[in-house]
Amino acid sequence: MMIQTNQEIQESQKLILNLKKEKDVTILAHYYQTLEIQEIADYVGDSLGLSKIARDHTNTKNIIFAGVLFMAETASILNPGKRVLMPDKQAGCPLASFLDGNTVNTYKEKYPGVPAVVYINSTAETKAETDVVCTSSNAIKVIQGIQNEFKSNKVLFGPDENLADYVKQKTGINIINLPDEGFCYVHNVIKDLDVIKVKKEHPNALITVHPECKREVRELADHIGSTKGMYDYVKINTSKGNEFIIGTELGFVQRVQKDFPNNKIYPVNENFICRNMKLSTLEKIFNLLNNLNNDKHKVTVPDNIANKARISLEKMLKYS
Ligand code: 13P
Ligand code: SF4
Repeated sequence: MMIQTNQEIQESQKLILNLKKEKDVTILAHYYQTLEIQEIADYVGDSLGLSKIARDHTNTKNIIFAGVLFMAETASILNPGKRVLMPDKQAGCPLASFLDGNTVNTYKEKYPGVPAVVYINSTAETKAETDVVCTSSNAIKVIQGIQNEFKSNKVLFGPDENLADYVKQKTGINIINLPDEGFCYVHNVIKDLDVIKVKKEHPNALITVHPECKREVRELADHIGSTKGMYDYVKINTSKGNEFIIGTELGFVQRVQKDFPNNKIYPVNENFICRNMKLSTLEKIFNLLNNLNNDKHKVTVPDNIANKARISLEKMLKYS
């Protein structure tokens, strides 16, 4: 099935919605998915929100996760009774590749007594070796919580160096980057000059950016938050026809433009696209719904890793 025109998109969306009901499937989608996928999802959210939905609010036997691998792995770890499937299992998050479990253990040996926190954008194997996980929306609370628990004035944190810097600025906690370098290829290329240029064109617009952006970009923003945090910021400030400049991936910008048609929403740059997120397509979801029993699409985390990673994830949910 080739889906190209608007009419073909709508027709395939209808087919998918019918198949989804018939086959006992919940579709979870991240904000960076294409709009046409967000429209057929049961839930759209940020990493934290989707983890909670996977754990607490999915009544179907099957979950199709339109996102990247660490998100589907997290859903499977938190809800081991479910069959979690991805439209394309090649959709990984390159940020997660900066850190593996062995490196976490090497750092823990080098810094005894210092808690290790990893961003949810990491592999299940990495999560299994750490003390707690966090997302962009709860990083501050989680790091403060674990610091108190360990009574340590330092925290190991990775793999995103920009999020680490953001938390350091906000809390004053001494953060040791784990490893030395780690960034998201989509957010890390956003420059202060990109934001300044759009702000010059729209001087009254409020600026909101993701904490994976560099400090020079964050310092220009009126608000910094996870995708859900940015969405809520726009939602509560839509009055008086406010305009917004958004520093994150294009799928999110398109979603906000659709939901708030009376406000002008400007991307910092339309080319900020996560190619990994875009590996999911309507066509692949349609094919998956017709092949639900094919284990090729099933996300599995071995029990010995899942059991340890679940402890770090549950601790995150406790602190957030
Ligand atoms: P959020 O948790 O803010 O949705 O971020 C996920 C992500 O991958 C950002 O690049
Ligand atoms: Fe990973 Fe960046 Fe894509 Fe988010 S936007 S999934 S951090 S590569």
